[in-house]
Amino acid sequence: MKVLGIETSCDETGVAVYDTEAGLRAHALYSQVALHAEYGGVVPELASRDHVRKLLPLIRQTLAEAGMAVDELDGVAYTAGPGLVGALLVGAGVARSLAWALDVPAVAVHHMEGHLLAPLMEETDEGPLEPPFVALLVSGGHTQLVAVDAIGRYRLLGETLDDAAGEAFDKTAKLMGLPYPGGPHLAAMAEQGTPGAYRFSRPMTDRPGLDFSFSGLKTQVLLAWQKSDQSDTTRADIARGFEDAVVETLAIKCERALDAAGCETLVVAGGVGANRRLRARLQAMAEQRGGRVGFPRPAFCTDNGAMIAFAGALRLQAGQSEDASVRVTPRWDM
Ligand code: KG4
Ligand code: ZN
Repeated sequence: MKVLGIETSCDETGVAVYDTEAGLRAHALYSQVALHAEYGGVVPELASRDHVRKLLPLIRQTLAEAGMAVDELDGVAYTAGPGLVGALLVGAGVARSLAWALDVPAVAVHHMEGHLLAPLMEETDEGPLEPPFVALLVSGGHTQLVAVDAIGRYRLLGETLDDAAGEAFDKTAKLMGLPYPGGPHLAAMAEQGTPGAYRFSRPMTDRPGLDFSFSGLKTQVLLAWQKSDQSDTTRADIARGFEDAVVETLAIKCERALDAAGCETLVVAGGVGANRRLRARLQAMAEQRGGRVGFPRPAFCTDNGAMIAFAGALRLQAGQSEDASVRVTPRWDM
């Protein structure tokens, strides 16, 4: 089964073809980062318009790279939510129209389920990752620990009570004058910082439970930054202190979640999963426990069409698809 995946929930237009026999055939991504940079955040109307401009050319490009004609597709999957309503509607409209014209099924995919299943696309020396596992979902909009008993059977173990981890990275970067989107810039800055020069708290790790809270960390950084000499060296030291606090907090909660779920496989997905130090820390933890941790390649940690094609292919294989109405769900629990 060859499935086209379309992702347009925010500021990336992602397209891919996943083949249930041959694996990922092709993928293409267009990032709107430059478009939104001058506003310091995503402008929803501009995002929708840019998806309109870029989606069809990207679909053509992806099919060409896969060496396929459009009528070889067996299904179309698209992100139906959560996300920006206008942006989602562009993907949904194109996906549903294409599926109708080709007379193939269309399937609505939950954006976070796409992230959650992305690590399963990767080939590893230890063989394919399979449920049951615990998933840490860390993106700009979500921070969740989820027990995955089977594909489609998810139990929420814990989540953030305020800012998502990626949002904390972005806001912290912004307050220290780093460009948008802040997460990767702050992580790069932290590489030059001295470990231990600044120490911030590990929120909510001193009591039981699997929930997170990251908004206080941002305030701690703001106070430290305002009191400092605001030099490049200090910025790097604070960035390192912040990154260490987030990474350590996530690692402590992941370990607790594995204990709670009685499971030794951890899967990490979402934009913050691209963070080098987080990957190394969780890898070390898994090795120490004799367990296993799986990540998507960094390019598939952030938003992409491949994860939507893959999740859609699994759903279509399981016989799921919907009627032809163009519906999106901007706020949607997984
Ligand atoms: O999953 P994603 O692409 O979009 C959402 O669905 O939110 O995640 C984007 C988030 C942003 O907050 C971005 O700053 C963060 O992931 N991010 C990172 C890194 N790369 C992306 N945060 C920390 N370190 C990184 N290397
Ligand atoms: Zn995402």
